Order: sequence, then C-alpha cells, then structure tokens
Amino acid sequence: PTIYIVTPTYKRLEQIPELTRLAQTLVNVPNIHWIVADDTNTTNPQVIHLLKRIHLPYTYLLTPMPQEFKKELARPKGVANRNGGMEWIRAHATEGVLYFADDDNTYDIQIFEEMRYTRVVSMFPVGLLTEAGLSTPVLKDGRFIGWYDGWIGGRKFPVDMAGFAVSVPFLLTVPKAKMPYTAGMEETGFLSSLNITTDQIEFLADNCTQIYVWHTKTHKNNPASRNILLPEYNGTNLRILQ
Ligand code: UGA
Ligand code: MN
Repeated sequence: PTIYIVTPTYKRLEQIPELTRLAQTLVNVPNIHWIVADDTNTTNPQVIHLLKRIHLPYTYLLTPMPQEFKKELARPKGVANRNGGMEWIRAHATEGVLYFADDDNTYDIQIFEEMRYTRVVSMFPVGLLTEAGLSTPVLKDGRFIGWYDGWIGGRKFPVDMAGFAVSVPFLLTVPKAKMPYTAGMEETGFLSSLNITTDQIEFLADNCTQIYVWHTKTHKNNPASRNILLPEYNGTNLRILQ
C-alpha cells in the first residue's frame, strides 16, 4: 500500500531547512506519495524547487488558513493544510494509508513500515521532549486500558498528531470526516469524526513499546541579522536571497 504523507508547512526562515530534512528522511521510504500542503495563497518557488529535486511522487497544494482564524490567540495550525490534503486523497486515492507528518517532527523510517498495513486506524507512541516524555495509548497484556499524554484535557482521543495513521479505504467510507478548526482539539476532533471505537485501533510499534517518531521543534530564528546588500552584488548568486 502507498503511504500518503500529508505535510502542513508555511513560509518562515525554517521552512526550507525543515522540508529538506524531512525530504531526506522520506527518500528512504518506498511507495509513498508526499502531499505538501502550504499555508499560503501563492506558490513558493523554493518549495517547488526542492520537491522537484527530490524525485519523490508529490503533490503541492495551496491551503491557506481561513482569514477568520488568523486573529485567534491559539490558531488552528495546519488544519486547512490537512483538510486540503484529505480532500486531494478523497479525489485521487483508492488504496493506501494517510499519515499527517508535520514538517518539524523527527521520523525514524521504521514508523512508515509499521503503519503501512493499517486496516482502520493505527496508533503508536510519540516521543515528547517534555516532562511527560511521550504520548501513547496504554496497553496491559496487549489490551488497551487508557491514554498517557502530558495533557489529557478531557479529550476522547488524547493523542499527538504524529501518533496515528488512517486507512484510505476506511477514510473513504466516512465522507464527512474532517479536522476541526479548534486549537488543541484537532486530533481528537478528527478521530471522533471517523466514528471509531478503541477496539478498532491497531496498536503498532511492538505494542506501543517503541518510539519511532518525536514531536520536535526547531528553535525559532531571528531574521534581524541579514547583511546589507551592496549595489555591485546585483546579478550575482545572491539572487537566491528573497
Ligand atoms: C502540534 C499539532 O500539529 C497541532 O495540530 C496541535 O494543535 C498542536 O501541536 C497542539 O498540541 O496544540 P505544534 O508542533 O505546536 O503543533 O505546531 P507547529 O509545528 O508550529 O505547526 C503544526 C504544523 O502546521 C506544522 O507542519 C507547520 O508547518 C504547520 N503550520 C503552522 C502552518 O501550516 N501554518 C501556521 O501558521 C503554523
Ligand atoms: Mn511542530
């Protein structure tokens, strides 16, 4: 089965470095289709240039966050992107698996082989660089008994965005399934919209004893240090700056 990897991204200093790192991971994974969903109204030529060089099957989507959510204090990051990616999958895919891979996380390629044969929804631990240490379903003798996460927050499915995958044929049986524009409730809202029960979940990564994906965050860089361009530098390689 093909893994349809939906990656939300947006323009910032870290964008191309993050996508480069993720691309170098994904080139080591067979049979994937990378859907890069950009939170913008205008195509980013640097992103397209990278995607072409990588030689992976890909789709580049423009999926801007609706204006009304931009002024919210806690913005629903990546939601328009993921819903846009899902719409593309509904229109173009008939088999395979959907996985939401944020551009800033860290992926051991083993996670993709774990999720490839997902029949409904699969789940696995996500390493968190917090006191909690990880987000995972809790299993006893191979049976689900609860959830572990630094923030349960009354959520039905208190899991990280990187901690589950969905079968595409199954997704197609639930035409209304979508991610809500509610910060913090994206995962649980989407999983609830799939109308699944916990006994349908496939627990991977050796009964959730292995961590193959981490929720990492790149230090936010300060744009204030750019050098002044001298007039005689017109028409040089410095055109790569934009
Ligand atoms: C993660 C999840 O991805 C969110 O869905 C969730 O709401 C959040 O945790 C949470 O627990 O509250 P986080 O790592 O904090 O998000 O945020 P980012 O990595 O900044 O953003 C998530 C994804 O959306 C990234 O792939 C990023 O490139 C993209 N994004 C972010 C946008 O497309 N637009 C933005 O304005 C911000
Ligand atoms: Mn992140």
